[in-house]
Order: sequence, then structure tokens, then C-alpha cells
Amino acid sequence: MSDYDQPLRAVAADVLLAVECGESLSQCLPPALQRVALNERPALQALCYGTCRWFHRLDSELNSRLKKPIKSQDRIVHHLMLVALFQLRFSQQASYAVLNESVEACRALDKPHLTGLVNGILRSAEREGAPEPQDDASRFSHPGWMVEKLRHNWPDSWQAILEANNAQAPMTLRVNALRFSRNEYLALLNEAGIEASATRFAPHGIQLGRPVQVDQLPWFADGAVSVQDEAAQLCTTLLDLAPGQRVLDACAAPGGKTCAILESQAELAEVVAIDESAARLPRVQENLDRLDLHASLLEADAADIEQWWDGQAFDRILLDVPCSASGVIRRHPDIKLLRRETDIVPLASIQLGLLEAMWKVLKPGGRLVYATCSVFPQENHRIIQRFIKQQSSAVLIEPEAQWGTDMGAGRQLLPDPISHDGFFYAVLEKPES
Ligand SMILES: C[S@@+](CC[C@H](N)C(=O)[O-])C[C@H]1O[C@@H](n2cnc3c(N)ncnc32)[C@H](O)[C@@H]1O
Repeated sequence: MSDYDQPLRAVAADVLLAVECGESLSQCLPPALQRVALNERPALQALCYGTCRWFHRLDSELNSRLKKPIKSQDRIVHHLMLVALFQLRFSQQASYAVLNESVEACRALDKPHLTGLVNGILRSAEREGAPEPQDDASRFSHPGWMVEKLRHNWPDSWQAILEANNAQAPMTLRVNALRFSRNEYLALLNEAGIEASATRFAPHGIQLGRPVQVDQLPWFADGAVSVQDEAAQLCTTLLDLAPGQRVLDACAAPGGKTCAILESQAELAEVVAIDESAARLPRVQENLDRLDLHASLLEADAADIEQWWDGQAFDRILLDVPCSASGVIRRHPDIKLLRRETDIVPLASIQLGLLEAMWKVLKPGGRLVYATCSVFPQENHRIIQRFIKQQSSAVLIEPEAQWGTDMGAGRQLLPDPISHDGFFYAVLEKPES
């Protein structure tokens, strides 16, 4: 233990308890990192992400080992044991250290009456090894409803999707085309000894051989590159941007795509970036500042156009709607714990509502790109089909793309174990008259 007053595992258990209560890792991990010594922070992050990733498998094992569930006031000890099981099953950590430190953490959590239980359960887990998963939810370590939904939606690829969701995502960069060509930046990475290659589909993308801290990337602070998945970068290839256009990014925070738009066409008349989250909007400005770009930022509900629209229609709209994020689970494994099956219908209705509202502010002859990081058709091509049924004048454009699968009303990318995330794009045009 360090000067900090709680052992690493106790803090990790606390983070997992917060996730179980509905907080995302990006909300509860940063303050938790401050509670451990600097050199322990990467380990805390790895424990929290890893335990979320394998939560459903580990939880099933733990429940089968417990004679009766742990009382609700002691629930944190359940999470402490999940963290320990994660280490026993998925890390190189010596098992005696996992056992001893978990018992010590149990005491530090002020649960001395449960140290015997922790010790006993972990000892038998170590001795007996991992049990054979009893069902697909524990085999693939996903909530049962998600496994069923994916099996139903993707009868040929559901297992590949679930496996890709458990893989380590690569670190991918978007080269700021206003500063460097992709080849120039690849050469800089090569000089810095960072293994990297060009992405297959995104024209400014570079995938790194292994993740690095951003401050190791040449000229990062000066805006040479941004971290962005290859699938997310594809939005600019669909918008057909040209000088003089007025562009709306309707759900913009943290601004990854706003910046990609500005980098890919330097002579736009204006980019308006809206987000309803006051907490997230400053992230857009931070990204713009680092890249030395400019956009007009608005904190508003994009669907409530009377609240924010000045009556000037947009030539291009990017609508990157709030969604289940089921295509980016490998980067955000807490989604497995946070998302509920009952979230999808309300999300779909928000998505359709946003699309209907954005259609009103699109210029005749203008183009709208609808995007999600979801792999559920309910949020994707079915939204587009529902919209086209109401707006029969909307023209569906078939992008000339090498990536993804044509769904008849948009293109779907499934998460790829070695490259891009799961994403969906549809392109709609409004007729001139
Ligand atoms: C998928 S994220 C956007 C990611 C962003 N486009 C990027 O590439 O960095 C969806 C965003 O939509 C925002 N949002 C949700 N509902 C909204 C609404 N009705 N109006 C405006 N923004 C909304 C959320 O706060 C969230 O930041």
C-alpha cells in the first residue's frame, strides 16, 4: 500500500459498484484514479476495464461459487471478488498476491467479517480453475438480452460481433489534413519509433501497432493529429463538403467529427456545432482550440429548432445521434452493464425525432448524413426506412463505399477485431423543389 489510504483493489471494487448503480466508467474512473498513487493508475484502469469486459462471465462463476448472495450492504465485497477473479482468469498476476491483497482490501473496506468468505471463494477458484461457461451470455460475457438481440439481428455474424466486442481496440489517429499529409505523418511516426500503418478506408487515418500516450505523438499538442476510430472518420467522405457551405453538426460533443469536417474542407462558410449537454460542450471547444479550428457552438436540444434556429437553412447536416453505443463496446465495456433492453425503443424514438427536426433545417438540394455507433438495426436502417415512409421526397443516396454492408437504407459496419468500430451511416438528400 502507498501513502494513499485505500488499496487498489478496494478502489476498483468501488468503481464497479458505481457502474452497477448506473455511472459510466468515464464518469467514475477519473476521480477514482486520484485516490491511488500515480504508478498504480494504469493498473486501476486495467482492472476496471477488464472486470467490466468479463463481468458477465466472472459474475456467473462467482454466483455459482457463493452459497447465498452477499447482503446488499456488503455488495462491494462481491465486486472485490469479481476483480480478483478477473486477475486469476485473465492476468499474469501471481495468485497468492491476488488472494492476500483481496483479503487485505476486504479489511480496508471495513468488512472484516467477510475476509474468510473472500479467502475461501478465491482459494477454491484458484484450485478448481475456470468453469466451463454454461450459456452464451457467460461464454461471450455479454448480457443475455444483447446476445439474443444480436443473434436475431445478425444470424450469420452474431458470434463474430460478440468476440470483436471483447477484443482490445486499436488506437487510430486522424491526421489533420490542414497540417500534414498522411504519408508525411507516417514518416514522423516512423522517426519516433512508433509502428503505424494507413487505415484501409478512411483517407486520413493511421492505425498504431500498439497504443501510446498522446503526448508521445509528434506535434500532438500543436494539432497535427487526433485520436479517432476509422469508422467515425468516414463521416467526412459521405458529406460531400465544398467551399462556401454552411454545415450543421447537430449532436457534436466531444467534437471529433466537427473537427474532422473542418479539417477536410478549409473553406466552409460556417460550421455550427450543437450539443444539449452543457458538461460535454466544452470538450468541443478544447478540441477546436488544439487544432486551431473554428465553429459556432450552441448548447441546445437540436430537435427543438424554435429554441436555436435562425431560419438560415444548412447545406450539409451531420446527425450523429445518441444511441446504444453497441458498436463500440470494446472501447466502452461498461456499456454491457449500463445499457438495458428497454433503452432501445425510447432511443429509436429520439433518433427519429431528431431526424424529422433536422430535415426542416436542411436546404433544398442539401445533404444529411445520419450516423450511429450502434449495430442494432432498430436504431439504424429501420429509422431511415421509417423516415422515408413519412418523407417520401427524401432521396436515399447509395454511397460508393468499399466498407460495410449495404442494408438497403444505409451501410452498416460491424466491429472488426483488428480495425474499425461498429458504425452505421445513411445519406439522404432533399430535392430542390
Ligand atoms: C454520439 S455522441 C456525438 C459524438 C460526436 N459527434 C463526435 O464525433 O465526437 C451524441 C451526442 O448527442 C448529444 N445529444 C443527445 N441528444 C441531443 C439533442 N436532442 N440535441 C443535441 N445534442 C444531443 C449528447 O450529449 C452527445 O454528446
